[in-house]
Amino acid sequence: METTDETRLAEALTAIDAACDLDALEVQRVAALGKAGWVSGLLKTLGGMSPDERQVAGPRIQGMRAAVADAIEAKRQALEAAALDAQLAAETLDLSLPAPQAPKGSIHPVSRVMDELAEIFADMGFSVATGPEIEDDWHNFTALNMPESHPARAMHDTFYFPDEGPQVAGERTRMVLRTHTSPVQIRSMVAQGAPLRIIAPGRVYRSDSDATHTPMFHQVEGLVIDEGIHLGHLKWTLETFLKAFFERDDIVLRLRPSYFPFTEPSVEVDVGWQDVGGRRVLGGHGDAAGHGWMELLGSGMVNRRVIEFAGLDPDRWQGFAFGVGVDRLAMLKYGMDDLRAFFDGDGRWLAHYGFDPLDVPTLSAGVGAKA
Ligand code: DAH
Repeated sequence: METTDETRLAEALTAIDAACDLDALEVQRVAALGKAGWVSGLLKTLGGMSPDERQVAGPRIQGMRAAVADAIEAKRQALEAAALDAQLAAETLDLSLPAPQAPKGSIHPVSRVMDELAEIFADMGFSVATGPEIEDDWHNFTALNMPESHPARAMHDTFYFPDEGPQVAGERTRMVLRTHTSPVQIRSMVAQGAPLRIIAPGRVYRSDSDATHTPMFHQVEGLVIDEGIHLGHLKWTLETFLKAFFERDDIVLRLRPSYFPFTEPSVEVDVGWQDVGGRRVLGGHGDAAGHGWMELLGSGMVNRRVIEFAGLDPDRWQGFAFGVGVDRLAMLKYGMDDLRAFFDGDGRWLAHYGFDPLDVPTLSAGVGAKA
């Protein structure tokens, strides 16, 4: 049977429709519309026709060319859409798979404990205050009731700067690396007035160095100024703080009379511990058998001279203050024994004793880091 152009067209359209991918479709396109394709061949015959013949054959051949071209374009779009669908189906993400572990830094125990302190004291209405580490001796000593001649000034082996500081309260000052966080008491009272509830964690410096002393270490200061504040408020606050911090309800405090120039009366606070398998564990009354007392912090009622130095009326405003070593709190809670390792900057120590940065202390979950 002779293949008519119409049969050829029908076969071509069937083949185009059957093309399984873009390559197979291209083969069909070349066979029909390529230089040597059969449609191209038919188009060439138009040149040799008489005008009358061409008038009849022209639209017929052009119609076949358009039918083939349209079919190829439609098939191409269908094949591309199918390819995209297949790709989308093959490349789905399984969002339930665990994410790969990216390297994560860790939080230094000192930072961790400071965060815990901020959390505990925020719950009691305290805000966090800061002051300069390069301090003038008026704020570091004089305003804290330690005048030039005061023997307590020798209690601290202080790093002095050679140059003079600013004039403060009409007095010449010298600059020092602050020896304690207590000057933040003065700065907070001057800046914020009363009433006031702050803690001030930060670095302090003394010329001291052995296994339990480093030239730089950390303290946290606490200060409450209000009307009618008494020693009972101090004891309750410290008890609440230490129970939350050590996460034990059986923390027992012993207040011993002491002396600090900036408090009157002054108390040294001891915490009861018990022997558990050769280890001293905080908790319980220190006088019981197998128990003892550990000195933990200094505190007292703010000396009225200090309140005066800060520009407040001591007949109206009273308060209590305390100061405690942050490094020591960290060592007691998390079981490190060499203070110097805190500041060696050894990544292995930090990897071992550091804390997960995503484990943020919250009171509701118990303020301590997860094991
Ligand atoms: N500033 C004292 C020190 O460094 C600690 C201290 C004791 C702070 C008693 C206080 C306090 O606020 O009331 O040794």
